[in-house]
This record gives sequence, structure tokens and C-alpha cells, in this order.
Amino acid sequence: MIELKGIVQTYPGTSGPVQALRGVDLHIRPGEVFGIIGRSGAGKSSLVRVINLLNRPTAGSVVVGGRDLTALGAEDLRVARRDIGIIFQHFNLLSSRTVYDNVALPLEIAGLAANDIKARVEPLLDLVGLSSLKDRYPAQISGGQKQRVGIARALANRPKVLLSDEATSALDPETTRSILGLLRQINQEFGLTVVLITHQMQVIKQVADRVAVIDAGRIVESGPVLDVFTRPQHATTRSLIDEIVPQQLPPSVLARVRALQAKAPDNPGQLWRLAFSGEGADQSLLSDVIRRFDLDLSIVHGQVDEIQGQPFGMLAVFAHASPAQLAGAVAFWRAAGVQVEEVANPQEAANVQ
Ligand SMILES: Nc1ncnc2c1ncn2[C@@H]1O[C@H](COP(=O)(O)OP(=O)(O)O)[C@@H](O)[C@H]1O
Ligand SMILES: [Mg+2]
Repeated sequence: MIELKGIVQTYPGTSGPVQALRGVDLHIRPGEVFGIIGRSGAGKSSLVRVINLLNRPTAGSVVVGGRDLTALGAEDLRVARRDIGIIFQHFNLLSSRTVYDNVALPLEIAGLAANDIKARVEPLLDLVGLSSLKDRYPAQISGGQKQRVGIARALANRPKVLLSDEATSALDPETTRSILGLLRQINQEFGLTVVLITHQMQVIKQVADRVAVIDAGRIVESGPVLDVFTRPQHATTRSLIDEIVPQQLPPSVLARVRALQAKAPDNPGQLWRLAFSGEGADQSLLSDVIRRFDLDLSIVHGQVDEIQGQPFGMLAVFAHASPAQLAGAVAFWRAAGVQVEEVANPQEAANVQ
């Protein structure tokens, strides 16, 4: 649906050119919710503005729905842009227009008659749950309601793609959930392709099918959300995921392990960090290992969560055991698709932190 190739975006800066995008390739499939996550300044807004050619890239091509936007003339581009809706962090509503008139605006610009506008706007207001507030002004509604207006407005031209640039970043967690739920509903009902730009992994976790991580103008990692959450490869990805699945064991956990070790100074035991998803998340992950290898296993830390009905998580487990028992347990977990990381020596790990 969206094919970006070799996108470079350079801005003239006061102290020399700023390279906001340094060669981005992305393929976004029709009907998916594709998340793009990165820290502030990573190039997210530059990227989203390139997709609808609000910014013309310094180099590279932008193909949306089979059309190369960079090759279109001004008039063709204006028409092509109707297929791409966009919503923003600060909603960008016109304060002098009512809810209804904000949603109607793109249709007025497209030259529809008042009757046709009404026939489009009313079902959209219904869809976003704002029919009863249609005569209010932006100042008279909440942030979540403003974003619902933004969504209805973005859908007015019946786009095939919806771009969202930090659309929930100004909202509280509960409102964020309801807006993301609405985006998912729209995605499913209309088969709309959604590109979701965010700095929050919670947003990716709640609604994205696939995710790309952007760092300093480059895509450093991408894949299905569950894979990226359970097998993050890049340091930026790991630090962004940390809020959902702790990547480092906290010092308090390591202190607890040291206390366990002190009980058996001759056999310091082994601490593992296990990351699992889907099938591997089966409960018998622990009970089978305990039975088969006669292990005295302690769970010292953990987190189990869900993405689109698929369990995933992290457990830190500790065992006093013989090398044969330890090797058996690790082989069993790996065969079950669990990522096993041996935390070398809690004493040293604690000193490093
Ligand atoms: N119009 C501009 N002129 C100059 N530099 C810009 C402009 N827009 C963005 N930048 C710079 O480009 C980089 C990426 O910015 P941006 O795409 O807004 O990142 P993000 O949305 O991830 O925070 C930043 O260093 C930013 O300062
Ligand atoms: Mg931005």
C-alpha cells in the first residue's frame, strides 16, 4: 500500500544542514496497522510528512496505492492526497468552526454540495460517537473528543490510508485506549491502512500489527510486534520496550538472588532471564522443567502480558543445580522456543549497575 524507497530528508539548519531521514525503506501492507516508534527527534514527523508529501523528500520515492506521488503534478497530487487522511497530536481543529463544520471542511474544499456533505458527515459523527456534540466548538469538548473530530475529519474523503502523528500523545491513558480502540475498529470495518507514529510502546502494544523502530533518521529494526517485543535486536528498541518488558533486572532482584546464593555458598546456582511468547508461554514452561530435571526453581522477577490475544513476557528464574541439570533445563526451554539468557553472575551484574 505504501512503499518508501531510499527516503532522505535534509533540512537547511542554522548551523549546517540537518539530516532528518538518512535512507528509509519501508513497505506497509494494505489493511495493516503499522507502527513507527522512535524517540523525540528521531525523524518520525519528517517521515509521516513525506508519506503524504507535505514534505517533498530530498531523495527517494513515495508510492501510495501504486502511484508514485513524487512524480505527480500539483493538481494530481491534490487529488491523490484525498486517499491519505492524517490526524495530529494537537488535533489542529479550527476553533471558529463547530464539530460538524470541522468534519465538513475537507468536503467543502473538495467541492461537494451541502446535501452530499451532510450525508457523509452525519454517519462519521455517529461512527466516532459525537452526534450529540455536533454543534459544539472545539473549546467546549475534551481532548479525546477533539481527536474524535480529527478522526472523523480525516475520514471525510474516504481515504485508503490514515496517518497518525502522535495522535494520542496529549491524551491520558484511558482516553488513549479508547482512541486506539476506535482506530482499530475503523481499520477493521473499512480495511483502512493505518500508519501510527508514536514514542510510546504502549501504543504499539495495544494496536499495531507490525512495527518499525526509527533512530537518528534510520529504520534500525522492524517486524511483527510480538517478535520485536520478545526478541529486540537494537539497543534503542530494547530501551523503548523496557517500560513494558523489563530488559534489565532491577538491583533489588539481584540482591534477592545474592541472598539465595548465600544460603548455599558451595553451589552459587544460576540466574536466567527467560523471554517467551505465544506457544512458548505455556505454563508448563516451569513445571515441566522442575519435574524433569528435579530443579529447585525460584521465580525472582517477571511480567506476563498479551498482544492481540497472544501471551508474551519475561521471567527471571534462579536455581541451585548441577551443570547437567542446568544444561538440560536450558535445552528444554530453547526447544520450546523460549529465549534463554544466562545472567552471568548476579554479584558482578549488581556491581555494574
Ligand atoms: N523544518 C525543519 N527545519 C530544520 N530542522 C528540522 C525541521 N523539522 C525537523 N527538523 C529536525 O529534524 C530532526 C527530526 O525531526 P522530526 O522529524 O520532527 O522528529 P520526531 O517527530 O521524531 O521528533 C530533528 O533533529 C529536528 O530538529
Ligand atoms: Mg514528531
